[in-house]
Amino acid sequence: MPKIYVVFYSTYGHVHKMALAIEEGARQVPGAQVSLFQVPELMPEDALAKSGAGQARQGFAHVPVIQPEQMAEADAIIFGTPTRFGNMTAQMRNFLDRTGQMWMKGALIGKIGSVFTSTGTQHGGQETTITSFHLTLLHHGMIIVGCPYSCSALMNMNEITGGSPYGASTLAGPDGSRQPSENELSIARFQGKHVAEIAAKLAR
Ligand SMILES: Cc1cc2nc3c(=O)[nH]c(=O)nc-3n(C[C@H](O)[C@H](O)[C@H](O)COP(=O)(O)O)c2cc1C
Repeated sequence: MPKIYVVFYSTYGHVHKMALAIEEGARQVPGAQVSLFQVPELMPEDALAKSGAGQARQGFAHVPVIQPEQMAEADAIIFGTPTRFGNMTAQMRNFLDRTGQMWMKGALIGKIGSVFTSTGTQHGGQETTITSFHLTLLHHGMIIVGCPYSCSALMNMNEITGGSPYGASTLAGPDGSRQPSENELSIARFQGKHVAEIAAKLAR
């Protein structure tokens, strides 16, 4: 019975929508126990109010906030973060920076780590955000899993789409108005299922 944790940060809701698709994909694997979590917010309330994210954030306010130590319970952790200047958000960085004690104990060694993201623009750092995130997971001794090309949606050239062998992704658009497309959501579902299948094999 593999335990899969989907751990995300989102300001405007795009990564949350992708996280739901990742979760849906992981649940397709019989016996997988899948839980969705968000990392703590760091932005002060007045800054959040100015960001215009209030309504979007209501959409995932019910998702429990995870503490770093809880990750030791999981067999696989799938992380989602928007891009900030081609890298993960400060909220996700801070969450990971609180895992020093876990690193000392080797608490995440041998667990699966996988990453998905969202950017504002088409070439704004999807791949750099995911691959630079992998460095932290490797320091923790995690086994990196991406999204293989058996996911045919990765080959779609008929529309603008996120998604790469490094992991699922979406494009929010410069004003945040674009929502994850069906192609991007299908890649997210594929990644969730792929991680859960490998976690199930490792659990056996
Ligand atoms: C401070 C800041 C930096 C950002 N940097 C980038 C960037 O480097 N490239 C990009 O394409 N989008 C960038 N964005 C846009 C966000 O990635 C976008 O709002 C996010 O993917 C939406 O995801 P969410 O709805 O889950 O918050 C930035 C946004 C902010 C607020």
